[in-house]
Amino acid sequence: MAGYESKTATQMPNNLEAFFMPFTANRQFKKAPRMMVGAEDMHYVAADGRKVLDGTAGLWCVNAGHARPKIVKAVQDQVAKLDYAPNFQMGHPLPFELASRLAAMMPEDLDHVFFANSGSEAVDTALKMAIAYHRARGEGHRTRLIGRERGYHGVGFGGISVGGISGNRKQFGAMLPGVDHLPHTHDRSKQAFTRGEPEWGAHLADDLEKLCALHDPSTIAAVIVEPVAGSTGVLIPPKGYLKRLREICSKHGILLIFDEVITGFGRLGKGFATDYFGVVPDLITCAKGITNGTIPMGAVILRKGIYDAFMNGPENMIELFHGYTYSGHPVACAAALATLDTYAEEGLFERSAELHGYWEDAAHSLKDHPHVVDIRNLGLVAAVELDPLAGKPTARAYDAFVKCFERGLLIRYTADIIALSPPLICGKGHIDEIFGTLGDVLKEAA
Ligand SMILES: Cc1ncc(COP(=O)(O)O)c(C=O)c1O
Repeated sequence: MAGYESKTATQMPNNLEAFFMPFTANRQFKKAPRMMVGAEDMHYVAADGRKVLDGTAGLWCVNAGHARPKIVKAVQDQVAKLDYAPNFQMGHPLPFELASRLAAMMPEDLDHVFFANSGSEAVDTALKMAIAYHRARGEGHRTRLIGRERGYHGVGFGGISVGGISGNRKQFGAMLPGVDHLPHTHDRSKQAFTRGEPEWGAHLADDLEKLCALHDPSTIAAVIVEPVAGSTGVLIPPKGYLKRLREICSKHGILLIFDEVITGFGRLGKGFATDYFGVVPDLITCAKGITNGTIPMGAVILRKGIYDAFMNGPENMIELFHGYTYSGHPVACAAALATLDTYAEEGLFERSAELHGYWEDAAHSLKDHPHVVDIRNLGLVAAVELDPLAGKPTARAYDAFVKCFERGLLIRYTADIIALSPPLICGKGHIDEIFGTLGDVLKEAA
């Protein structure tokens, strides 16, 4: 760009124009930028040198905290040793090792792993795999995909098609054909201020039977849901809901996909939501916490029977015509292996479970604060929903977000819902600080 003068990345850039920022009000941000230039453990360092407590684990991904030594070293060593090697018709050891490690964390026969580079790619991979699996078994008529209202499955065309957030869909035309949606599971009139899983709402899974009756189950390839919907504002599944979905899918030969991009790697106090809820899907998508956010990576973990269904043609033929240049990238694999070590050595999934009660009490202590209309929580996730300012949806949450940042706390908001999900290394003092700061901001905004 003409006239651009290079500066180091730790200084404020002299021009903010060229970067088209993702999921951001670009013009608003560029007028008053909020920049991070460093991070360690529970904190970011902002461009003005202030420490900012990370109440959101970055974007739900830095589960072990920032700049953890083992992960940093693994990345540094790997990039110097083998920076890149293809995994198409070639291989290198690390994705094999990582796949085995992930498979060992899984219940039942979820024992094969396909690597991608993000949650969005993992989702599109799982959807394609589901359709291709049925075809490989002579059921090529099963092409329909069922998502859920308010679901977030990334931004690929598959993901937005099964996703249910209208803002993420309306700009992009007709999307995939043959997609339908279950109703979402949240009803404030019946569930407000529930601690953990709501009692009301398991029956909403029965809408899958209605979709089966409408389309005929023989046309349906897969159902995809987030066990706990995160990006739409933390919707906790009603008691028994996921089990019921599993039963209906099994009854009709439909694959069940859990999108665990947020719930994976300890967020709920277990390795994965499948462990937490005791409901086992056929495929799991994950990303984010797989590398602690350090290097992009996503993965699909699938049942043995799905993998085996593809292994039926001549041995010299490619079984699945799908993959990414960076599927199983060496540096991402090294980061993931060091991340899994860190989770295990520091007992972070257990720590997340131990902190749950303290976290829950702290979250619900904001119940009587101005404009708070609901609080929901599970594991180390919580949402504080605000009554929108009349005629100005999102303004109230945005205001809280900016004020929290100014006071040294990073929170996240979707519409007027504030979402919190700290790194799993957080202590009780951090939890007090998160809800104390947010509480003060809400009181002052009244
Ligand atoms: C449940 C879920 N699926 C998919 C994605 C997309 O992941 P990515 O942004 O890595 O593509 C996200 C991201 O927040 C997510 O929460």
